[in-house]
Amino acid sequence: MPYDMNKQIREILSCTNLGKTFSNNQLSLEILREIELSIAERELIAIVGASGSGKSTLLHLLAGLEIPSTGSVIVDGQDLNACSQRDKRVLRNRSFGFVYQFHHLLAEFTAKENVAMPLLIARHSYKEALIKAQGLLKIVGLEGRYNHKPSELSGGERQRAAIARAIINNPRCLFADEPTGNLDERTAMDVQSLLVDLNQKNGMAMIFATHDHMLARRADRMFELRAGMLWPIIS
Ligand SMILES: Nc1ncnc2c1ncn2[C@@H]1O[C@H](COP(=O)(O)OP(=O)(O)OP(=O)(O)O)[C@@H](O)[C@H]1O
Ligand SMILES: [Mg+2]
Repeated sequence: MPYDMNKQIREILSCTNLGKTFSNNQLSLEILREIELSIAERELIAIVGASGSGKSTLLHLLAGLEIPSTGSVIVDGQDLNACSQRDKRVLRNRSFGFVYQFHHLLAEFTAKENVAMPLLIARHSYKEALIKAQGLLKIVGLEGRYNHKPSELSGGERQRAAIARAIINNPRCLFADEPTGNLDERTAMDVQSLLVDLNQKNGMAMIFATHDHMLARRADRMFELRAGMLWPIIS
């Protein structure tokens, strides 16, 4: 899909000189460096790259889930890492949705409670949150699994529940780390369509890390992470 300049209405998030170095014992590993990226409202961005290239790390930094070693992430003109932990949590809860590579559903809660969690944290009523959660579980094809615990769901079903949880608060920006990673081809296509629809109809900005080239090709812009840096892919 060609990049549509009209989509560039307002910047949601940007980063400058973003870098991450992990240090374990004597070993220091520079995983990301000098990353410059800006995400506009309604934009869909895909990040591809070999396993270990730093895709998950980049999404975690952009969503404020990890602290960068260099540079900054700016959201609505504010440096994310200058915010207090509480302000960061509120901003993430209101404005971001995150689909983790390994879903991170809470084991002791049912599928519908897991999906409802962002609304419960934002103090919506339990009943309203659960009704909305069931509606989303139905959309992602998990009708009949509302009361299953994560251990009673298949890998792909957990992934779809995690997607439902990430979109329940209608975030301005969805971060999705391998959203189709555990899915069979048919379900992957359904999830792709769901995400692209949310982007096109609801205007939800999205940034994906993916090995799925079908999904990456549906993005407005695609980048490859290589040697710690972000390289635009011109299609
Ligand atoms: N907390 C950590 N401490 C030390 N090294 C880490 C840590 N987290 C990630 N790394 C290293 O950073 C590199 C990038 O990891 P990351 O998970 O971002 O890769 P990825 O591109 O998402 O890979 P995949 O496609 O396999 O999911 C890896 O080599 C990993 O070992
Ligand atoms: Mg990863």
